[in-house]
Amino acid sequence: MPDDPDFGEMLDAAVKAAGDALDVPITIADPEQDDTPLVYVNPAFEKLTLYKASEVIGRNCRFLQGDETDRTVTDELADTCRNKKADTYCLVNYRKDGAAFFNLVAIQPISITRAHKMLMGCQFAFTPTQTAGTLARTCAMIDRAQRQVRHGARTEATQINTHDTFRLDTVAMRFEAAFVRINDQLLKSANGRMLNELALGREHMRYPRDLINAAPGELAETR
Ligand SMILES: Cc1cc2nc3c(=O)[nH]c(=O)nc-3n(C[C@H](O)[C@H](O)[C@H](O)COP(=O)(O)O)c2cc1C
Repeated sequence: MPDDPDFGEMLDAAVKAAGDALDVPITIADPEQDDTPLVYVNPAFEKLTLYKASEVIGRNCRFLQGDETDRTVTDELADTCRNKKADTYCLVNYRKDGAAFFNLVAIQPISITRAHKMLMGCQFAFTPTQTAGTLARTCAMIDRAQRQVRHGARTEATQINTHDTFRLDTVAMRFEAAFVRINDQLLKSANGRMLNELALGREHMRYPRDLINAAPGELAETR
């Protein structure tokens, strides 16, 4: 459950504050829970989709999809999520008011604890400068282009529009920055937690009584 106290511990306030401060829409979902529900969305995501966090936490992010969403792309996306991999896709999504938009979605696993991985998503509402045919067809084209950009080949990508491929690269950089920011925060929080545990551990350590009661300088070093 997202409001489970254990969850609060796993994705602490500092990580949420870092996400809240980002202007890139971000989402975090928990693949350890049934149907990978969203456990966090930031204000930029609320602004993009018009959904409030309280309406979407606990739901799988597929509620953004609709009639024109390409199912071959969502199948691949499902595979990425199931295997906790990283990848980027272009999908037709719908805002709460029903308006369709191209959504460039990057998924990346993040480590909440050593044992628990969650999935972080970055969204980018994309308006191609050159539209061709239906939303779904254009989206499939951009999806392929995005893969080519990632793999260094640009033939089809250049056919779409150099302006668009340039934007794809810029967006990829913004995504990367968001992932780095959240990962940094997770690391800091994990270190903080570890230090806390160490400090607590020390408090609860049992020292021999004579060691505790000994006056300074009274204890001889054992050799
Ligand atoms: C962190 C995260 C963010 C996601 N963001 C989106 C999104 O913005 N738009 C979308 O259509 N799907 C998004 N998805 C994908 C869907 O939640 C789901 O995984 C996809 O539809 C494939 O699964 P399905 O075939 O069971 O629906 C996201 C998934 C994860 C884990």
